[in-house]
Amino acid sequence: MRTTVGIIGAGPAGLLLARLLHNAGIDSVVLESRDRAYVERRQRAGILEQGTADVLRAAGAGERMDREGLRHDGIELRFDRRRHRVDFPALTGGRSVMVYAQTEVCKDLIALQLQEGGPLLFEAEALAVEDAGTDAPRVRFRHEGREDVLECEYVVGCDGFWGVARKAIPAELTQVFERTYPFGWLGILADVPPSHDELVYARHDRGFALLSMRSPSISRLYLQVPDGTDAGTWSDEEIWDELEHRFETADDWRLERGPITQKSVTPMRSYVHEPMRHGRLFLAGDAAHIVPPTGAKGLNLAVGDVVTFARALTHRKETGSAELLDTYSQTCLRRIWQAERFSYDMTTLLHRAPGATGFEDRLQLARLERIASSRAAETDLAEGYTGFSFG
Ligand code: FAD
Ligand code: DHB
Repeated sequence: MRTTVGIIGAGPAGLLLARLLHNAGIDSVVLESRDRAYVERRQRAGILEQGTADVLRAAGAGERMDREGLRHDGIELRFDRRRHRVDFPALTGGRSVMVYAQTEVCKDLIALQLQEGGPLLFEAEALAVEDAGTDAPRVRFRHEGREDVLECEYVVGCDGFWGVARKAIPAELTQVFERTYPFGWLGILADVPPSHDELVYARHDRGFALLSMRSPSISRLYLQVPDGTDAGTWSDEEIWDELEHRFETADDWRLERGPITQKSVTPMRSYVHEPMRHGRLFLAGDAAHIVPPTGAKGLNLAVGDVVTFARALTHRKETGSAELLDTYSQTCLRRIWQAERFSYDMTTLLHRAPGATGFEDRLQLARLERIASSRAAETDLAEGYTGFSFG
């Protein structure tokens, strides 16, 4: 099998890249190790930056998002039983975000790819990227019980944190920057209308909590839990009781309960792999970097990477110049490090580390006070949350 761009992974990065290349008249093949139902059901991100929504629209993949997605103009910060709303458009010259789940983005892109795009093979597991340093890189993969080879001009590893692409970059050329956190998130989906019309990020002495949503009738909620927690050890009632504690306010706000339909625990880490390119192999999305989810940045970073790659390859095709491909890693990393910083700040602002001292608690409250009382501090948060430029 032969193609121009071999794409490993059909998460948001791989699927959007295939679409952008198709629109630019460049052919590709996508290899995905899981089956279609799994990819379409995996609960993850919920928030699209305005720039991400604009890219999906321009790629012809925004129709259902514009119909069913919920535009959000702010978030609420909750601390010390108080509520503070951050108004995005007022602080950023009109920017907002979109609540539209990653599952839906993936469903839309898969449907488009199968109708109009090049091959998208499910249950096709990449085993290794070979000859990345040459003009003819190859992906060895297993599909329908047989081993095969995809001969490419370029390979893009969009295969997430646990993928194989990153391993093809020699260790002596690589630097990894990493931090793990001593807590994770227990996430639930519940059949109950969201108790607030915007997302609520709560800092509490018992730990962080987040209220989000998937639709006007489905809530998505998260609780900070100790690292290594098994979701099964929390009963539904314990989860609701704990959420109620952490979201408590001095006014008469109430958390509505409903049947919990899904429960899982996500670990938290910050991770950056530099460089993101070796020869004709490029890494995009979670394959190259991870942020803790508090800033809602992971999917948006993946989109930024593939937009940068598609632009660079189109430039190469139109002008013959490899200049933008050569600077791919630096261009992406500028934005990635801003998102790493923002996600770290949001995480340390809102989570209670095990063994945190009274001094650290007071500092967190002072940082939150500062955001609530200084337009400059609040603007910094609003700019970070609504997104850094794709430049
Ligand atoms: P992935 O989605 O991980 O896709 C990689 C794909 O590659 C997968 O389909 C995998 O099966 C496939 N694959 C792996 N290995 C192979 C192989 N060897 N061969 C073939 N295929 C392979 N981000 C946000 O922007 N906003 C949010 O609100 C947000 N909230 C989050 C909440 C949670 C609980 C979690 C866990 C994440 C959240 N994120 C959020 C992060 C976001 O989900 C990820 O950053 C995003 O999925 C990255 O997309 P990706 O395509 O790079 O990788
Ligand atoms: C969601 C996830 C996040 O990490 C976040 O910061 C906001 C919302 C969500 O899944 O809805």
